[in-house]
Amino acid sequence: MSNESRRTATSEILDVDSYALRDGGRAFFLTVKEEVVTLQEAVTGIDLSDALAVGGSRKTRLGSEPLEPLWLKGGPRPLVAREGDLLLELELGAVLNPGLFLDQRRNRAVLREKLQSTISALGGRPLRLLNLFCYTGAFSLAVARECVDAGAAVELINVDLSKRYLSWLKRNVALNFPGTDAVVSREFPQDARKFLETEVRKRPASYDAIVIDPPTFSRGPTPFRVENELPGMVTTAIKLLRGAPGDLLFVSCNDSRWLTSAFEATLSEAAPGFRLTPGSYSLEEFGPDYLLKSAFLTRA
Ligand SMILES: C[S@@+](CC[C@H](N)C(=O)[O-])C[C@H]1O[C@@H](n2cnc3c(N)ncnc32)[C@H](O)[C@@H]1O
Repeated sequence: MSNESRRTATSEILDVDSYALRDGGRAFFLTVKEEVVTLQEAVTGIDLSDALAVGGSRKTRLGSEPLEPLWLKGGPRPLVAREGDLLLELELGAVLNPGLFLDQRRNRAVLREKLQSTISALGGRPLRLLNLFCYTGAFSLAVARECVDAGAAVELINVDLSKRYLSWLKRNVALNFPGTDAVVSREFPQDARKFLETEVRKRPASYDAIVIDPPTFSRGPTPFRVENELPGMVTTAIKLLRGAPGDLLFVSCNDSRWLTSAFEATLSEAAPGFRLTPGSYSLEEFGPDYLLKSAFLTRA
């Protein structure tokens, strides 16, 4: 684990592998999960002592109070996070999240591990990943890295309501995989529910892996509330999987009112014929009450 930072001509690279809630660190990442604001401290060699300011938000559960953007004062250059072998552009400024959910780090690693046998059985065709609610594309990058390192090609189908996040994702893909034809990324600025409905009619049984990582609630043109929408989305998503033994669906959510046991029971019911393995809850880093709950579903 290195506390070193690297510099490139155009950006500063921040090593987030050493991220932990520790004393004495100088850089903070902010994640906002539902109405909870978590300050995440990264130990880093670069001087970000000026980069840490939080305004207008509390660090505790806010219940119904609206969130205000957080303010991170940036350094002179864009900041890029390095998580293992992935690079992710960070945004400093008035942000709800700077571009990377660090608490999904373990899940990204597990997703890669679980796809290894599927990747080795591709036989020359690209692995197809559907990433719903993709944000800046961290799960897509992780899967693409695993494929490229194994000499396989990958097609990333990324869906998010936000065009801004999809452009950010494209920059992240270019940052990680410059000049390679092995990674094809397509971006769809659509409601994930609509995308699923259309896709299941047009291209059933066409994906090797699907990621569904929705917000607890979103307004959008059609309001979204996770506990109402997720069961139907899971049932539809499994129809998009190929029907092969390696089929993999990863589902995650941050709804603090949804008990983990109920979340898992709902998923099992929504995906008959699939076996559920709990995802990482980052207990060591965040404590047992942390909101993140997640599951990997594979064919039983
Ligand atoms: C929890 S974040 C996803 C984090 C992401 N999976 C990652 O690992 O970095 C939720 C994302 O869902 C998007 N979103 C919210 N409602 C949506 C909807 N109805 N359809 C598609 N995307 C939506 C938001 O723009 C946001 O990028």
